[in-house]
Amino acid sequence: MGTALIQQILPDEYANMTDEEADERIRLADTLLGDRLVILGHHYQVDEIIKFADYTGDSFKLSQESAARTDAEFVVFCGVHFMAESADILGGEHQHVILPNLTAGCSMADMVNLEQVGDLWDTLEEVTDARCVPVTYMNSSAAIKAFCGEYDGSVCTSSNCAKVFEWALTQGDKIIFFPDEHLGRNTALAMGFSEDDLMVWNPLIPPEDNDLEKLKRCKFILWKGWCSVHGRFSVEQIELARRDFPDITVIVHPECRHEVVAKADGFGSTAYIVKRVNEAAPGTAWAIGTEINLVSRLAKQHPDKTIFCLDPIVCPCSTMYRIQPQYLAWALENLLQGNIVNEIKVPEREKQFARKALDRMLSLAS
Ligand code: 13P
Ligand code: SF4
Repeated sequence: MGTALIQQILPDEYANMTDEEADERIRLADTLLGDRLVILGHHYQVDEIIKFADYTGDSFKLSQESAARTDAEFVVFCGVHFMAESADILGGEHQHVILPNLTAGCSMADMVNLEQVGDLWDTLEEVTDARCVPVTYMNSSAAIKAFCGEYDGSVCTSSNCAKVFEWALTQGDKIIFFPDEHLGRNTALAMGFSEDDLMVWNPLIPPEDNDLEKLKRCKFILWKGWCSVHGRFSVEQIELARRDFPDITVIVHPECRHEVVAKADGFGSTAYIVKRVNEAAPGTAWAIGTEINLVSRLAKQHPDKTIFCLDPIVCPCSTMYRIQPQYLAWALENLLQGNIVNEIKVPEREKQFARKALDRMLSLAS
């Protein structure tokens, strides 16, 4: 599940609130809730939200924080739905995870559902005896994570995908990777595999119309899913950046297409991008292929470096952007009044198996 949930209507008082007022009220509620509250903020959140986050990070770091902060009664997740679900799965029984705006989903996570996965699983059983290990990107629903847990697979994020793939190859003959074709391809090729080892499974055509011969012999089955934000970056943009700034370093997120990753100087998770820029010498120039809120923040934080987004047309993640201060003020003030709004609760059975897959990732990659 992702973007399809209906948002509770934001009461007029909040919908009409100025940013300044929201700011003051969030600050006060945050102080009054004290240690009962922890606010997590993904790197793609807007500055007006990120300044309230107790912890910021990439998906992996935030999942570690959720697993560690079991003392807080309320975890307010400023990110997208699959991240809040993971926090609920990793959190304690007594904790409540809140997503300030329920329409903050992820279009990539919505590209895979259990019924489609069942079609692939059944087809594999018909064509091969190979042991297939399911691995899902963090950007997927709790139901898909639970499938991976139930069938002895794992979750991974963009910062530990290679580690999880290495482990999975010790457990079986093939990896099925949901739902980002590009992260799967970029990781497998960086590990030394070739295009011939990969096949892309298209869930939108009848199973028998996929290449069943390749399905039998390939090492990696990559789900045909993608991120529309990262799909915008191109080789031409890299060439233009290098033409204008010959000494530029180009770094991109692994959700970009392989031709873009191959042309860049480096690729990695949002935490990798932040680290590279933080560690760079003054006077250096960086063209970055990821979401605009992160790139703009890095540019503001490092006025001594030239930092810009590879795509000249601003490319925000429109769902991350749905967490606005007015929603955060509404969620926190409700908590103060004893009302838990927008709680994310994963059903118990799903939770057990999804936890198994998430714990596997945390143990492999911590
Ligand atoms: P990170 O895990 O690198 O933060 O990426 C999450 C994401 O959704 C990128 O689009
Ligand atoms: Fe999903 Fe792409 Fe937004 Fe990341 S940037 S949350 S993958 S839509």
